[in-house]
Amino acid sequence: MLSSATTRADEPRGHAESWWREGVIYQVYPRSFQDSDGDGVGDLAGIQKRLGYLARLGVDAIWLNPFYPSPMLDFGYDVCDHADVDPLFGTLADFDALLADAHAHGLRVLIDFVPNHTSSEHSWFRDARSSRTSSKRDWYFWRDPRPDGSPPNNWASPFGGSQWTLDERSGQYYLHTFHPEQPDLNWRNPDVERAMLDVLRFWLERGVDGFRIDVANFVLKDPQLRDNPPNPTAGTSSYKYLGHYDTQLHLHDKGHPDCHPLYRRIRRLLDSYSRDGSDRIALGEIHLYEWPEWTRHWAAYYGEQLDELHLPLNFTLVGLRWQADAFRAAVDEIEAVLPAGAWPNLALGSHDESRIATRIGREQAKVAIMLLLSLRGTPILYYGDELGMEDVAVPVDCARDPFGLLDPALGRDPERTPMQWDDGPNAGFCPAGVQPWLPLADNHAAVNVARQRDDPDSPLALTKRLLSARRSIAALRRGDYEPLDAPGGCFAYLRTLEGERVLVALNYREEALELLLPDRGRILVSCRPGRDGELVGRTLHLQSNEGCLLEVGESRTSKGVSTPIAAAEG
Ligand code: NOJ
Ligand code: MG
Repeated sequence: MLSSATTRADEPRGHAESWWREGVIYQVYPRSFQDSDGDGVGDLAGIQKRLGYLARLGVDAIWLNPFYPSPMLDFGYDVCDHADVDPLFGTLADFDALLADAHAHGLRVLIDFVPNHTSSEHSWFRDARSSRTSSKRDWYFWRDPRPDGSPPNNWASPFGGSQWTLDERSGQYYLHTFHPEQPDLNWRNPDVERAMLDVLRFWLERGVDGFRIDVANFVLKDPQLRDNPPNPTAGTSSYKYLGHYDTQLHLHDKGHPDCHPLYRRIRRLLDSYSRDGSDRIALGEIHLYEWPEWTRHWAAYYGEQLDELHLPLNFTLVGLRWQADAFRAAVDEIEAVLPAGAWPNLALGSHDESRIATRIGREQAKVAIMLLLSLRGTPILYYGDELGMEDVAVPVDCARDPFGLLDPALGRDPERTPMQWDDGPNAGFCPAGVQPWLPLADNHAAVNVARQRDDPDSPLALTKRLLSARRSIAALRRGDYEPLDAPGGCFAYLRTLEGERVLVALNYREEALELLLPDRGRILVSCRPGRDGELVGRTLHLQSNEGCLLEVGESRTSKGVSTPIAAAEG
C-alpha cells in the first residue's frame, strides 16, 4: 500500500532541541560569496544581502570560514585577533547585523574557531618571540636545535618542509604545523586554554550558534614531541597526496588522548550557553585518515557519554572514487563505529577539496547531492555545489593559496572562486570593472543562480526539491538508515521512521538500470525532471546517473534486516 503523504504540510523548521541533527549546514567562504563594497573580495554585508537566497534554498544554518583580522597568508586561518573582524570583511557591527538578520531568516550561524595556531602577527606570538623570558614564551612551542643544528624532531608540515622554524634572534626553533607564519599554541599551558575559551565566550555572548573547530584534534600533541614513525601505507590513500607530509604516520603531532578531556570542557562551556533547547554546537574538523582504524579514533570525538563534539566532521565521502559499493561500504562503516545515540554528518566538499562536479562529473554530482541530502546525518553543503560549480583553473601567476604556491597541483584556489549569481558582469559577485580576488569560472554566464532558478533540470532546482522533501518528510531528517542489497552500480537504502519509508536508489553508472522494488512506491524526487509524483509498480527504471527518492509501502522486513532489491528481469 502506498502511504498517503501526498499533501503533507511543511513542518516547522527543525526541532529546537536538535536543529543540528535535522538541519542542513551551508558553508559560506566569505571571500567568495558576495562583495558589497566593490573591492573584489566578499564580505559580511555581502553575505547578509544573500540571506534571502539561503533561506529560500531551504538550508538551516550557515558556517562562515574565518573573517578575523589576519595577514591572510592562509586566508584567515592565520588569526591575529580572535575577537574582531578584518576590515576587508567589515566590522563587528556588520557581524552583529548579519547574525541578527540570519536569525530573523530562521538561519543559525556557525563560525570558525582556529585553536591550533595563531598568526605570527598575533600580539601573543610577538610577545613570546621577543625574548626567552617573555611571559608568553610558553604559550607556543620553543625548543633548542639538535646538536647538529637541525630541528628538534622530524615532524613534517602539510604545507611542505619541517614543522619547525629557527628563530634567529633567540636561537630556538618554534613549532608550526602549517605555515611558518602560523605558530602552534601550547594548549598544555592553562593560560592558553583560559584565553582561548574566552574567545569562545566572546562569540557565544554575541549569539553565535556554534563553532566549526579548525583541525580540532591537532591541539594536543605528544608531550615528549617524539618523532613520527614512517607511514607504511604512504601513497595508497585516495586523498590528495601531500608528498613528504604523507610519508609519516602522524601519531605524535596530533590526536593525543588529552584532546578528549579538553573537548569535554569545551562542551560544558557550550552547554552552559545552550538555552531553551537551542544547542550551541561544536563541529570539529578531525583529520586521522592515515591512522590504522581511523574511523574508530574519529568516532571517539563524540565522547563516550556523547559529551565531546556534537559533530566530528567526517570527510570520508570526499576521498572516495564514484563507485556504489565503495560508498555503501564507507557509509556502513561510519554507521558501525558510531557510539550509541551519536549522529553522523556528511560532506561532499569544502574550501580544501576539489569540487564534487569536477571530481566525479556534472551528472554524477546531481546524484551525489541526492545522496548527501538523503543519507542519515547532518549534511554540510559547500557554497556553489548546489549549482554544480566546478574547479576553475587558476593561472600560476594568479595563485593565492600557500598550498598552491608550494605545488600548483595542491592549490585550493580552484574550489574557492566567486559564487555565480547571474549572467551580468562578474556574475553578480562584485561590480563591473572590479577584478574579483580569484578569477570567475568561464561558464559563469550559463551556470548561475538566476539561470538555474527557472530550469527544472538544473542542480539548483534539484537541490531545492531535495531540501523541501527533507522539510516535509521526517524520515529523511531523522529516520533510520537501512542499506539494501542492490545490483552492481546501484547504492540503495531505506530511511524509515514510524511506518514512514523512503527508498533511495542511486544509479552510479552510465547505463540505465531496472530494479525490482520490495514494494510499490511513488517518486518524491528524481534527478531527472518530470518524474516527481510518478507512481511506480514493482519495477523502477533508472536512467544513467539517475537517482530517485521514493515513498514506499509498509515494510515487510523487520528493522535492521536488509531487504534485497533485485535487478528486474529482461
Ligand atoms: C584546515 C582548514 O580547513 C584549512 O583551510 C587551513 O589551511 C588549515 N586548517 C590550517 O588552519
Ligand atoms: Mg568587499
